[in-house]
Amino acid sequence: MKTQVGIIGAGPAGLFLALLLQRLGIESVVLEAHTRNYVEERVRAGVLEYGTVELMHELGVGERLRRQGLEHGGIELRFGGAGHRIDFRELTGGKCVTIYAQHEVIKDLIAARLAANRPILFAAENVSVHGLDGERPTIQFQMNGAPEKLECDFVAGCDGFHGVCRPSIPANALTIYDREYPFGWLGILAQAPPSSHELIYAYHERGFALLSMRSPEISRLYLQCEPDEHIAGWPDERIWEELHKRLAADGWKLTEGAIMQKGVTGMRSFVTEPMQFGKLFLAGDAAHIVPPTGAKGLNLAVADVRVLSRALGEFYASGKTGLLARYSDICLRRVWKVQRFSWWMTSLLHRFPDGNPFDRRRQLAELDYVTSSRAAAQTLAENYVGLPME
Ligand code: FAD
Ligand code: DHB
Repeated sequence: MKTQVGIIGAGPAGLFLALLLQRLGIESVVLEAHTRNYVEERVRAGVLEYGTVELMHELGVGERLRRQGLEHGGIELRFGGAGHRIDFRELTGGKCVTIYAQHEVIKDLIAARLAANRPILFAAENVSVHGLDGERPTIQFQMNGAPEKLECDFVAGCDGFHGVCRPSIPANALTIYDREYPFGWLGILAQAPPSSHELIYAYHERGFALLSMRSPEISRLYLQCEPDEHIAGWPDERIWEELHKRLAADGWKLTEGAIMQKGVTGMRSFVTEPMQFGKLFLAGDAAHIVPPTGAKGLNLAVADVRVLSRALGEFYASGKTGLLARYSDICLRRVWKVQRFSWWMTSLLHRFPDGNPFDRRRQLAELDYVTSSRAAAQTLAENYVGLPME
């Protein structure tokens, strides 16, 4: 098999890249380790930046998003038992975010790709990359036990944090920047109408809590927990009890419902530099991870592949390699700003196990500042709705 761009991973990075390249008339093959059903049902992110939504419409995959996405013009920061709204529309010249589940985005992208008769090879086994620093890299894998080889001009490593692409680069060619946080998030999906029209980020002495949603009938809620928390220790009643405590505010009530899904995720900040080695270009979680507090992971993956598709477009149109050579530098400028924002939201809202009363007073002062200074609120708002593309 031969193609122009071999894309490893059918997550947001890989699938958006495939559609962006398709629009430029560039051929690609997407290889995915899991089944179609698995990637279409995997519960993850839910907040789409303004620019991510615009891109879905541009690519002609925004029809369900237009009908089912929930536009949010602000969020609430809750502390000291009271809510404070950050008004995105007013602070960013009319921008908002849209709540639409990541796995729904994935369904829309896969449907568009397959409707155009372009290949996604699901359940590809033992994927490996070769000849990255030569002229023609290859991807080797197995389909139904039979060995296969894909020759390409370029490989896009869109295979997430635990993929094979980043580890295939010689360690001495990369610098890794890493920070683990001393807590995780316990997340649930519940059959309960959301108790608020907008997301609530709650700072509480017992730890952070977040109220989000997926639809007018389904709530998505998170609680700060231990990084290695055992979900078995959290029967449904304990989860609701803790959510009631951390989200409490005068005159407000949290609506409970049947819990349909629950899980724990760790939190880290991670950056690989550069995001390229020879003919391999890393994008999305394969290159960087942010803690989820700023709702940025999916959106940052999309920003990377916008840059990559432009660079590949320039190459195939003119033979110029200028943008490809600058791919990593262009992406990393945004990556580090988004890292800063995600770290800042995380530091502002979580209870740190080694934090003392001084630290907690400082956090409260910062929350008071962000919700009372227009300049500070605007900084949060412009980052949350998404910084402009370079
Ligand atoms: P992935 O989505 O991880 O996709 C990589 C794909 O590659 C996968 O399908 C995987 O199966 C495949 N793969 C892996 N190894 C191989 C291999 N060897 N061969 C072939 N295929 C392979 N982000 C936000 O923007 N907003 C949010 O609100 C948000 N909330 C989150 C909540 C949770 C609980 C979690 C876990 C994440 C959240 N994120 C959020 C982060 C977001 O989900 C990720 O950043 C995003 O999925 C990254 O996309 P990706 O395409 O880079 O990687
Ligand atoms: C959701 C996830 C986040 O990480 C976040 O900051 C806001 C919302 C969500 O899953 O809905």
